[in-house]
Amino acid sequence: MTLSSTLTIPTTGAIPRHVAVIMDGNGRWARQRLLPRIAGHRRGSETVRKLVQQASGLGVEYLTLFAFSSENWRRPPEEVGMLMQLFITNLENEIQRMHAAQIRLRIIGDQGPLGTRLQTLIAESQQLTHANTGLTLTVAVNYGGRWDILQALNALLREHPEKQQEGIREIDLQPYLSMGDAPEPDLFIRTGGEQRISNFLLWQLAYTELYFTETLWPDFDRKSFLQAIESYQKRQRRFGRTGDQC
Ligand code: FPP
Repeated sequence: MTLSSTLTIPTTGAIPRHVAVIMDGNGRWARQRLLPRIAGHRRGSETVRKLVQQASGLGVEYLTLFAFSSENWRRPPEEVGMLMQLFITNLENEIQRMHAAQIRLRIIGDQGPLGTRLQTLIAESQQLTHANTGLTLTVAVNYGGRWDILQALNALLREHPEKQQEGIREIDLQPYLSMGDAPEPDLFIRTGGEQRISNFLLWQLAYTELYFTETLWPDFDRKSFLQAIESYQKRQRRFGRTGDQC
């Protein structure tokens, strides 16, 4: 019997330690219902809340969500404004509950352009939850994978100008990346039918198992997540070795 048909919880060893998600399809979900796009984003935030609970319950250690890319500023200003307001409302409403559930919240991305209200809330929320020992929930806001690699490189060279002559190794750069202290994602999920990485965690996804589904983000429910995990469990992860070596 397949995992998704029984909804049984798979054994802990088989659970991906780090899951990264591009949450796509909110706009289409709303359009199908003749609703404004923001209604799709609102429903999408409910999916986020449920997924965080489910992932935490399954023993996932890191859940990383792409909420707003550096390119999303190109959307109509009203939609950008409403998305920012939605992040604020969600943080205000959920942070105490997350804290009580031992969730450690982190925001990655260039916070400069986010506005002072959101910046303050982010700082307070991170400070409140930084010592929690449960799921680490990382939300990427105004994030881009290329931006991340470049900011890491620039920070490294500022602190270690000698590296310019010596040359830079992977392990030198690692600590300066936004997710420097987290394990690399085991499973990447993108909803909404597109099969792209879209400038998400470019460095960290090098060996990650990729899973794409047509399901629109607001419809991505418990069963959908279990199906993604089931697909992951069937993969053979080789990290460059041959099948015989695994
Ligand atoms: C992509 O769908 C979705 C976004 C750009 C925003 C994601 C935001 C949320 C789910 C809201 C809350 C987030 C958190 C972390 C509380 P789209 O608008 O590109 O959909 P489309 O491709 O169908 O137009």
